[in-house]
Amino acid sequence: MKIAVGSDHAGFEFKKGVLAWLERNGYQFNDMGPYDEGSVDYPDYARKVASSVASGECNSGILLCGTGIGVSISANKIKGIRAALACNPEFATLARQHNNANIICFSARFTDMATIEQSLSNWFNTDFEGGRHQQRVNKIEQ
Ligand code: RB5
Repeated sequence: MKIAVGSDHAGFEFKKGVLAWLERNGYQFNDMGPYDEGSVDYPDYARKVASSVASGECNSGILLCGTGIGVSISANKIKGIRAALACNPEFATLARQHNNANIICFSARFTDMATIEQSLSNWFNTDFEGGRHQQRVNKIEQ
């Protein structure tokens, strides 16, 4: 299980927190940048993470920007990606249970690190429910 992680400058500090959480919890990850807090364009990093998940190089992805909206919109342009913006841990649970999201996105400006950590834990420890949700996910793919 390998996790692709990326952000923009607004998400850079919390990305460090996410990487530390992944490390503490024994996940393998690929930090796709940025590697300093200089201003960058979030679609570049969303594309890197989303492409690595779509190709199967990574199993899932985590993206952060100021609101989480820009990275969500960008990642969802890549075929096969279901990127969900998680505003709280319940969103993260449902993003897995109902949508089988393969990328989770966070707001660095409107979410705190504790919420992100609990959301990651929920997302990684919840199973997709399948059934009626599978038929809906199939329609997204079509
Ligand atoms: C950068 O200032 C900000 O626009 C970006 O982080 C994000 O919030 C976009 O959706």
